[in-house]
Amino acid sequence: KQYRIAVIPGDGIGKEVMPEGLRVLEAAAKKHGVALHFDHFDFSSWDYYEKHGQMMPDDWKEKIGKHDAIYFGAVGWPAKIPDHVSLWGSLIKFRREFDQYVNLRPVRLMPGVPSPLAGRKPGDIDFWVVRENTEGEYSSVGGRMFPDTDREFVTQQTVMTRTGVDRILKFAFELAQSRPKKHLTSATKSNGISITMPYWDERVEAMAKKYPGVKWDKYHIDILTANFVLHPDWFDVVVGSNLFGDILSDLGPACTGTIGIAPSGNINPEGDFPSVFEPVHGSAPDIAGQGIANPIGAIWSGAMMLEHLGEKEAGKSIVEAIERTLAERTLRTKDLGGNADTTACGKAVAEMVD
Ligand code: NAI
Ligand code: MG
Repeated sequence: KQYRIAVIPGDGIGKEVMPEGLRVLEAAAKKHGVALHFDHFDFSSWDYYEKHGQMMPDDWKEKIGKHDAIYFGAVGWPAKIPDHVSLWGSLIKFRREFDQYVNLRPVRLMPGVPSPLAGRKPGDIDFWVVRENTEGEYSSVGGRMFPDTDREFVTQQTVMTRTGVDRILKFAFELAQSRPKKHLTSATKSNGISITMPYWDERVEAMAKKYPGVKWDKYHIDILTANFVLHPDWFDVVVGSNLFGDILSDLGPACTGTIGIAPSGNINPEGDFPSVFEPVHGSAPDIAGQGIANPIGAIWSGAMMLEHLGEKEAGKSIVEAIERTLAERTLRTKDLGGNADTTACGKAVAEMVD
């Protein structure tokens, strides 16, 4: 089978890290006999907006909606275009229109990356954060009344649907079941949020019955964030609602060092629509054009994409190549204390793939 990948570099360092991601994907595909076909798109960028007055063509969904996955760089060029126009005009449309209800991020301490947590070494921190990406606290149900008077009040509802809650829990339990530790942690706050969070807990319990091989526990979000910092070795798969997952999916990678290497997937597990794989970082205008951006976040996102497509061995070979590359100071980029430029680092990973 040949996989068709839509490639969208976007803005700033997105255009610099993506060629390295593609270089490594090509190397892994060759080694593992995976056939990848890349289609390149210039939309979802300031350059496209300057020419066309919009972030994407009207038929963007037809152009990329049939691909097996979307490989994305970064979007945003605040000096030219406000972020809400560029991000809502592209990336956020993908997430909503393609029903990417899972936001998935690995939290893994890599060799050569100093952990901000004292005394932790590679191997100590290795878990996944699974965030619900379509409903929950980020609803638009609510309102504001009597503005600018003493009677002013605002309200916003959390929306949890059975379908929405169950499908993210199912994804998280499946992931936990596939891992050696088979351990799932649920983020809750049912001591304070007295309707939606007890419901979430109830659905976790119901789902857990279907996965008897998975050990599970739950923590209130406040102590859970503390435990991310104090005991990151406790976790294997952590699942949270949209808001809690948002917080945890930034805190997790922060516990393992630089943002330049963190990858992510916005996933539609059923495959009704393509999923988007992208580095966590943005377009980094402050270093764009210098050729010094760390390409590892993009490269690791490519590995996640291969795993999502079912090419586990090829994906794993990339993650291992990243580990071997980061272990050598001279192959690291400047943000990690090395002196390699973006291309040198990408070539090093590509050569390490086996
Ligand atoms: P940013 O992630 O682009 O940069 C934050 C800091 O980290 C900067 O100092 C940058 O130089 C550094 N950095 C980021 N990636 C790096 C890499 N690969 N290697 C070395 N250093 C790296 O976040 P910022 O500056 O807040 O946002 C810039 C633009 O990117 C904005 O327009 C923002 O909206 C957009 N953005 C887009 C995202 C996306 O496409 N998913 C995610 C985050 C921000
Ligand atoms: Mg966030």
